Amino acid sequence: MGKGSGYGKVILFNEHFVVHGIPAVASAIRLATDAIVKRLDSGSGITIHDERMGTEGYSEAKREHQREALERMMRMMGVNTSKMALDVTGGGELPTFSGIGASAANCVAVARGVSDEFGMGLPDDRINEIAYEGERAFAGNPSGIDNTAATYGGLVWFKRGEQNVIERLKIKQPVEIVMGNTGVVANTKEVVAGVRERKEKYPDKYSKIFKEAEELVHRARKALEDFDLETVGEYMNQNHAQLQAIEVSSEVLNRLVDIARDHGAPGAKMTGGGRGGCMVALTPGKDLQETVAQAMEKEGFVALRTTIG
Ligand code: PMV
Repeated sequence: MGKGSGYGKVILFNEHFVVHGIPAVASAIRLATDAIVKRLDSGSGITIHDERMGTEGYSEAKREHQREALERMMRMMGVNTSKMALDVTGGGELPTFSGIGASAANCVAVARGVSDEFGMGLPDDRINEIAYEGERAFAGNPSGIDNTAATYGGLVWFKRGEQNVIERLKIKQPVEIVMGNTGVVANTKEVVAGVRERKEKYPDKYSKIFKEAEELVHRARKALEDFDLETVGEYMNQNHAQLQAIEVSSEVLNRLVDIARDHGAPGAKMTGGGRGGCMVALTPGKDLQETVAQAMEKEGFVALRTTIG
C-alpha cells in the first residue's frame, strides 16, 4: 500500500492571467488531500474511491476528469493498468471546493502514492511534472501554478514559460484568511477557454487589463514581502476588479467579496477559476477572521478559516 498527500492552495494574485504568462502569487494552505494507492493481485484498471468531503455534486461532476487525470499520470509513470488493477482512495482534510486546488492536490497525492507503492522514490520536481500532466484533464491547458503550490507548499511566485519560474516568497509570519465558498462547482476548463476567446476578440481591451495585472502583481509581491497587509489587501481588491473585467467572477462571488469588505477585511477577491468556486478574504488576526467568517455563515455560505505563508 502506498500513501501520498498534496496541499490545497489559494491564488492571491492573477489567476487566469497566469495562463498567458503573467506572473501570479499563490499560497498553499494547511489542509491537504491524501491518497492511498493499492496494487491488487488480479484484474486490471483503476478503481477510484472518493471519500473527500466538500461541495455537493463535486465528485460526480469531476469524475470523468479525475479518471482521465489518473490515466494520464499512470502512463507518465509507466504503470500499465491494462495489465494490473489499482485501487485509489482519496481522503484528507481538504474539502472539494472549486477554486481551492482540490484537483491539483489530488493529482499530487496520487502521484506520491503511486511512487510509494511501486518504490519509485520520485523527487518533488518529478511529482510536480506528473501532477501537471494530471491537471491537464481538469483544466485543459493549465498554467501549472496549482500543482506547484500543491507539491511544494508555502508561498510561491509563479511565471509560466518555456521554463516556468518558481520562486519561494518569505513573509514574516502566517496571515489568517477566510475562503468563502459559493457552493457552485465550476468548470475551470470552460472558464479558461472563455478568457482566451474574449482576449482574441477584444485585443485592445484585454491587453490593457493584462498589462495592469502584470504591473499590479510586482507591487503586490513587494507589499507581501514588506508585510504591508493593508496594501496587500488594497491590491487584492484591485485584482478582483481586473478579474471582473475579464468576466470570470460571478454575482455570488461578488456578494461574498462585499460581505468580507463590509466586515473589515482589508482585501477580498475571487480565487481560482471563478464563475463559482471560492473567494478569499485577507483577515489578519483571529478576531477579524472570525468576524468575517461568521458574517458569511450568517448568510448561508460555507467559510473556511485558514492561513497563508
Ligand atoms: O479553479 P482552480 O483552483 O483549478 O484554479 C484555476 C486557476 C487558473 O488560473 C484559472 C487556471 C490555471 O491553469 O492557472
